[in-house]
Amino acid sequence: MLNSIKMVDLHGQYLKIKEEIDQAISEVINSTSFINGKPVESFGLELANYLNVKYVVPCANGTDALQIAYQSLGLKPGDEVLMPAFNYVASAEAAALIGLKPVFVDVWEDSFNLNENLIEGKITAATKAIVVVHLFGQSANMEPILEIAHRLGLKIIEDNAQSLGAEYTFSNGAKQKTGTMGDINIHSFFPTKNLGCFGDGGAISTNDKDLAQKAAMISRHGQGEKYAYEMIGCNSRLDTLQAAILRIKLKNLDGYLQSRKEAAKYYHQLLEGSLTTSRPIEKGYSNHTFNQYVIKLTDRDKIKELLKNEGVPSMIYYPSPLHLQKAYAYLGYKSGDFRVAESLCQEVLALPMHTELLQDEQEYVINSLIKSINSL
Ligand SMILES: Cc1ncc(COP(=O)(O)O)c(C=O)c1O
Repeated sequence: MLNSIKMVDLHGQYLKIKEEIDQAISEVINSTSFINGKPVESFGLELANYLNVKYVVPCANGTDALQIAYQSLGLKPGDEVLMPAFNYVASAEAAALIGLKPVFVDVWEDSFNLNENLIEGKITAATKAIVVVHLFGQSANMEPILEIAHRLGLKIIEDNAQSLGAEYTFSNGAKQKTGTMGDINIHSFFPTKNLGCFGDGGAISTNDKDLAQKAAMISRHGQGEKYAYEMIGCNSRLDTLQAAILRIKLKNLDGYLQSRKEAAKYYHQLLEGSLTTSRPIEKGYSNHTFNQYVIKLTDRDKIKELLKNEGVPSMIYYPSPLHLQKAYAYLGYKSGDFRVAESLCQEVLALPMHTELLQDEQEYVINSLIKSINSL
């Protein structure tokens, strides 16, 4: 048994850039510029350049970034915001905290992303925005979603927490990075993300100067001139230490994405011909950055346990859809409302995926998977 297979290997990734990182951390410590130090501004500019977007506002984490995005758009209590039912909690939570109403939409069973054909059926007079979450590393189908939003005067917020570096291809062949197509978009630098820091971190990106200014102001207590509060804001800053780390890791991001892509390709190859599981689907309109490598299985829970016995870690993203969570029961949804999201929650399993994954580890993972499936 290979006893060291990890779901993610942040330490291995760190060791490859240790000297640079240690020096950058030491520089911040020596500067004692822990809050709003120079690296924060530099990182914002470098990320804007990477994304090819006009403005990036760094902040404390992706969840705050969502709340700041909603507030920057001027959304008010009672406004409805559409979002996928199969999703991390942040977009619903940030909305609910400021009195917005999360309205769920079902997803595609192959890409796990928002089903654009179901959006219009959820729109009411109170609908103001759509949160498009690019799940697991791949873009949702942006072109039809943007068309609906433009036609109906709705705002688009891309939640790019899991897919930094992914690219959407429009029908005319034009390509655009995820996190640059919505009115205002959010990113997370949680350690396991495509670009992860050594703690919490997040950012907002937009091409709209006014929204960028509002987002920056909201993230600093709504402050304009010092001690002059022009709007209700919050305290959401990216630490200088995290920014210094992110600057180094951003230079390596395309290399990291390449490693993920190669690991995914090898998993695909190892799974080829297996009839008992479904491999992740790569849609023609998006490259896949494989923040997660998610397969679907019947008997998922039993297989997860068997894999664990073989020393293979795996994770379930997500075990329950948002509409059936206790915290969101007040929205009045019931079991059966989102058939695809509900069935995905029973079937999905994320296999180990990271930038340091070795081929013999992947062979062990897939052999263990097939052995587990065959043993049932
Ligand atoms: C899709 C999605 N949105 C938002 C977030 C929130 O990001 P953070 O953990 O930085 O608050 C996450 C983090 O896991 C996420 O996966």
